[in-house]
Amino acid sequence: MLKAAPLRLGINVDHIATVRNARGGRRPDPVRAALLAIEAGADGITAHLREDRRHIRDDDMVRLKAEISKPLNFEMAATEEMLRLASVIRPHAACLVPERREEITTEGGLDVVGQKAELGPAIARLSDLGIRVSLFIAADSQQIEMAAALRAPVIEIHTGAWCDAVIAGHDDKADAEWQRIVAGAKLAKACGLEVHAGHGLDYDTARTIAALPQIVELNIGHFLMGEAMFVGLPAVVREMRAAMDLGRAGLEHAGLGQADLGQADLGQAGLGQAGLGQAGLGQAG
Ligand code: PXP
Repeated sequence: MLKAAPLRLGINVDHIATVRNARGGRRPDPVRAALLAIEAGADGITAHLREDRRHIRDDDMVRLKAEISKPLNFEMAATEEMLRLASVIRPHAACLVPERREEITTEGGLDVVGQKAELGPAIARLSDLGIRVSLFIAADSQQIEMAAALRAPVIEIHTGAWCDAVIAGHDDKADAEWQRIVAGAKLAKACGLEVHAGHGLDYDTARTIAALPQIVELNIGHFLMGEAMFVGLPAVVREMRAAMDLGRAGLEHAGLGQADLGQADLGQAGLGQAGLGQAGLGQAG
């Protein structure tokens, strides 16, 4: 059996900027959120500088790079403008995503097969700068194989369709999407790619996907920022870390309510015996 590598948690701070921009001004500050998330156990910070600057802005990216102590993952479209900005900001990683102005969020994966002529040079340019490139794609075999052929070191599997189906209770669709993710993660690993996943994840879906040993990083934003409004950002980061650790250890989440892990009787929930090292449960209280 494949031994699972540690699973990193990347926190996406876009929606702190969404709330800030609703009023203008400087608050709430996405950099403050990033610093708090790292203190609570995040392994990295992700931010998406969209062409329309609807949430994260250029100066947020600059400040994130300057002020955080963990890797910065710059989500971006493979446009000339963004490639130029990446060359100035020099993030640890760049996740190339498709972008359409009219979409509410990143609705699908990149068409790596159809856009290989543009993506190949973008991957090469970023890689030459020492930036680790990931391609945000659906768990589709042709896309995965093309990502490897274009020498992207990493893919991020788009989990949005699976998460939407789980939340809507569409069991057949959820199962089909899950099977695609499982097969895609295996194929990607076999192609030599590092495998990440993200979009639409909550505690339950993160715990489930954490059981896939090929996946080494989850990037999560919207759900956590929503929960943080009720219970605070450090608490949700710690609970997500704990959910991921449980999934990685092949355990059930034991029906713990959202964000009440801190107060839960861990022994009663069966967590006491779980032998989970990591940042998760040690800090959960
Ligand atoms: N990964 C990528 C590539 C994304 O585009 C997004 C959304 O910005 C996420 C992860 C995080 O998705 P969510 O905000 O739904 O957790």
